[in-house]
Amino acid sequence: MEKILVTSALIYANGPLHIGHVAGAYLPADIFVRFHRLIRSNIIFVSGTDEHGAPVSIKAEKEGMTPRELVNFYHDQIEQSFDGLNIQFDNFSGTARKYHHEISQKFFLSLLDKGYVVQKSSQQFYCEHDKRYLADRYVEGVCPFCQADGARGDQCDSCGKLINSIELIEPKCKICGNTPVIKETNHWYLELPKFENMLKEWLNTKSYWKDNVLNFIMGWLNEGLRERAITRDIDWGIPVPLPEAEGKVLYVWFDAPIGYISSTVEWAEKIGFPDRWKDYWFDPDCKLIHFIGKDNIPFHALIWPSVLMEQNEPYILPHDIPANEYLNIAGSKVSTSRNYAIWVDEYLKYFDGELLRYVLAANAPESKDADFTWQDFQARINNELANILGNLANRVFTFTKKSFDGKISRPETLSETSKIAFDEAQVLIDEIESCYKNYRVRKTTSLLMDIARIGNRYFDERAPWKAVKTDKDHAVETLYICLELLRKITIVMTPILPSKMKQLREMMNLNEKFSWQNIAQETLEYQIGVVAPLFQKITDEQIEEQLKLLESDQDKEVILEHKPEIEYDDFMKLEMRIVKILKAEKVKKSKKLLKLQVKIGSETREIVSGISQYYAPEDLIGKKVLMLINLKPRNIMGISSQGMILAAADDNNNLTLLTPMADIDDGSEVS
Ligand code: MF3
Ligand code: ZN
Repeated sequence: MEKILVTSALIYANGPLHIGHVAGAYLPADIFVRFHRLIRSNIIFVSGTDEHGAPVSIKAEKEGMTPRELVNFYHDQIEQSFDGLNIQFDNFSGTARKYHHEISQKFFLSLLDKGYVVQKSSQQFYCEHDKRYLADRYVEGVCPFCQADGARGDQCDSCGKLINSIELIEPKCKICGNTPVIKETNHWYLELPKFENMLKEWLNTKSYWKDNVLNFIMGWLNEGLRERAITRDIDWGIPVPLPEAEGKVLYVWFDAPIGYISSTVEWAEKIGFPDRWKDYWFDPDCKLIHFIGKDNIPFHALIWPSVLMEQNEPYILPHDIPANEYLNIAGSKVSTSRNYAIWVDEYLKYFDGELLRYVLAANAPESKDADFTWQDFQARINNELANILGNLANRVFTFTKKSFDGKISRPETLSETSKIAFDEAQVLIDEIESCYKNYRVRKTTSLLMDIARIGNRYFDERAPWKAVKTDKDHAVETLYICLELLRKITIVMTPILPSKMKQLREMMNLNEKFSWQNIAQETLEYQIGVVAPLFQKITDEQIEEQLKLLESDQDKEVILEHKPEIEYDDFMKLEMRIVKILKAEKVKKSKKLLKLQVKIGSETREIVSGISQYYAPEDLIGKKVLMLINLKPRNIMGISSQGMILAAADDNNNLTLLTPMADIDDGSEVS
């Protein structure tokens, strides 16, 4: 029996779960684990929330919460989202817990002891305004490798490279926006170059890894590894366990992967066998598999194995790291900062979690980025789940109930066409088995649909609705074969749609306990129970609603076009003053224009303004607004307009006049 330890990347507890996370690191893992549970592997699945580091403390500061309050809040919310998607961990922990701190400190000390971690004085960005060092995401700037904007102090999202923060070009403090200065501080460094040979040797045995992962690592190794600071000057994290390291914490990426271990330790405690975690972490025959998104590759494939190699205890190294690419939404990259994402807790208010499992599996970003669209979501649910699988179940059940009281027994002999249908299904099932083992969920979902297609085609060809009138046995055989195909599907598809397949088995009165081995074991007698449609079609209205939500929730990126710079003297040529509106009326025959009489000190003027769609004349009387006084008079619809009232307008057709914040005399000059 295979022994496997599966992990999914620990998600930062600084925001909700979105479907990009799910598609990258969680659903593929859950499907893999569920498959292995079916073939009775000895497998456990651990994960948790990543609760330290700048991502968490920055968000906490922004929300006015303590980091601990923040992580508790998101930990619970994220856990609920996973529940809603039937993603089932053996344990879901968090890195701010006690075990985790102890284990991480031990890891650090062991590396220090063996000479792989050294203390050095180094230069760091320091913000004079905020009086603090700017670790990791506290500083942003231009990437020194790819010149992309918005690179963070630890990693560039555009090219994926890890950055040594002081190499950032045009650095800016993330809190106040000022340019930081460089200051000396002490840190502890992991000497990655010392691991280079060990890593190369180890990686040589990994030719079976996914291409995207191998390519990434080879690029890194070719450039040569660099030492990396694994401590930070921030106050939220695991204290560096040394007396001279007062106020320093471990770098979040040092402690986070150790969370896989502490989560396993917590699991062992919970099940009442506190040493059981060692059966996995210390057993060279146990396969450690890390499911992650592509931005996590360097941490898992180079740094983490180095850390594991030099411990005092015999930890296993990763067996495989099936990293996934990104899931975009309607052609654009997910951006949590702009709120361009589909959040799982939101999704679950509208649709069943299983539907998302299906769509994300069918469209998994396995070897290249994939694109999620609501239209594709609808098409896959309606055209695949409802029209192919749902339809097969529905027609077979309905007919069985109507003509045979829901009861069908196995015919003594099977005809050639029936045997062919079975054989074809078996070929697919074998292929599906190998796809599950090789993390190919995309292919798996399409093969699964093919089994249902075989059923539908066979049903059509044998037309039991006609046969039943002349040759009852013929119709019984047809239904029996279709029921058998459905039964097989309930097993084979369980890793992808666990609760839907459970429902299907209930309708067919099949027992709850089953394993992959039961696929070939025919059920001799079927008694169909209470049936209900498995999949409701998604309507156009539902999709439109989601499209609107996606559009309106989004904090759009606003790129402004600027005019050429001007001199101060140019600005001084403008005479702008506060004016009081005395009279306002519509300009005859014009939809847009209002004629206003305004008072500027002891002077009055008449002007025409295109604001009739936004303001009723009576609402303007008495208001004080901003006006450009010395604009050359223009003749508008026969009226001489002696100036221009200032207003602001946005892309959504909103317009507002500009008024002073406090009452001030008309005639006051604006500068
Ligand atoms: N929190 C990290 C991220 O979202 C992933 C951590 S994975 C682990 O990118 F290795 F640290 F667990
Ligand atoms: Zn870059």
